Amino acid sequence: MQTRLLATDPKPALDEAVAAAVDLLHAGQPVALPTETVYGLAAVATDPDAVRRVFEAKERPSHDPLIVHVNSRAMLDQVADIPPELESIVATLTGQFWPGALTLVLPKSSAIPDQVTAGLPTVAVRRSAHPVFARVIKSLDQPLAAPSANRFGRISPTSARAVLAELEGRIPLVLDGGACAEGVESTIVKPAPPDKPGGKPVLHILRAGPVTPDDLKRFGKLNWTATAPKPRRPHAHPLDPVPPTVVEAPGMLDAHYSPVTPLRLLASPGEFQPQPDRRYALLSFRGDPDDGYLDLAEFEETVVLSPGSGKLPEAAVRFYFLLRHLDDLGVDEIIAEPIPERGVGIALQDRLRRAAAGHHRPATDPS
Ligand code: TXA
Ligand code: MG
Repeated sequence: MQTRLLATDPKPALDEAVAAAVDLLHAGQPVALPTETVYGLAAVATDPDAVRRVFEAKERPSHDPLIVHVNSRAMLDQVADIPPELESIVATLTGQFWPGALTLVLPKSSAIPDQVTAGLPTVAVRRSAHPVFARVIKSLDQPLAAPSANRFGRISPTSARAVLAELEGRIPLVLDGGACAEGVESTIVKPAPPDKPGGKPVLHILRAGPVTPDDLKRFGKLNWTATAPKPRRPHAHPLDPVPPTVVEAPGMLDAHYSPVTPLRLLASPGEFQPQPDRRYALLSFRGDPDDGYLDLAEFEETVVLSPGSGKLPEAAVRFYFLLRHLDDLGVDEIIAEPIPERGVGIALQDRLRRAAAGHHRPATDPS
């Protein structure tokens, strides 16, 4: 299959690209579209054949559910059956964070085929703020199932080029909406009623993302227990066996988001001894020699997420782009500095942990 790449500016190009995407989506084909987090591989969410093509193109196992994108309250009600006890928290969270990088896990409606939710009684829903995505879904006027547009378990794409690197020849069309403004996948929250009378709603955080715990804590009681894996031991070696974790969100297993190159996440400079004849590259947070990582080895290449004092949102925007670049170098190992676990840094450090776990998990886990 030939994969077309269409620009979305200037305006006539946008109109043409949106029309081409909508035609293909109507015909049950998957199309890669930009969102503000990462590129998604979209298909009409109510069409089981279209959804099957998404799983096939990504080589995604059928037990890993997709996120459904909507663009209105009416469309949300089409895909989710919101119970009265969640009505108020859903209204609050969508009012605050939609359109944006927040996904809500809610009871699913019968309009959503079981393939989309991997048989779960719930559906994950978000509304993207990306103007190109918004144009497509408005013109189509149907909910779009769209997981990240990478092959299963690999690095999420944050540019149209990265989508091609993942899916060229497997899908008919990519719309080029430029680099993603957030750079890391949406925060996934499962809201629940208060756990005691008069209490706040409980917000189970299933995946850390651009909407941070600080952003969410005003609206409910945060619960992290579902998120895997939390830090193990402060100085655990990435090659140590990982204790089994309870998986509340399918797909939130270890060993996601992996480069092909083995990645080692350091907790401190002292724990790394380079081996002769091995080629290393460094993913540095802020590129400050005082942090102690830059001279640990003769790195084949060092990339810096946010040069200077280290700005977490900037690090997020560049994160997958730079990780993909390091992966393409063909070194023996990528060495990653730890990222401060505040704000969106929580999401970045989480992705690094999973990437580091990706190389010693059994093949049945997502990798
Ligand atoms: O930012 C994003 O969320 C991007 C853009 C394209 O929207 N999408 C994305 O989708 O990251 P994906 O498929 O790579 O991740 C979806 C994850 C699943 O792996 C699973 O962890 C969680 O969402 N998920 C989906 N449905 C769920 C459900 N019903 N219950 C719990 N978790 C669910
Ligand atoms: Mg993904």
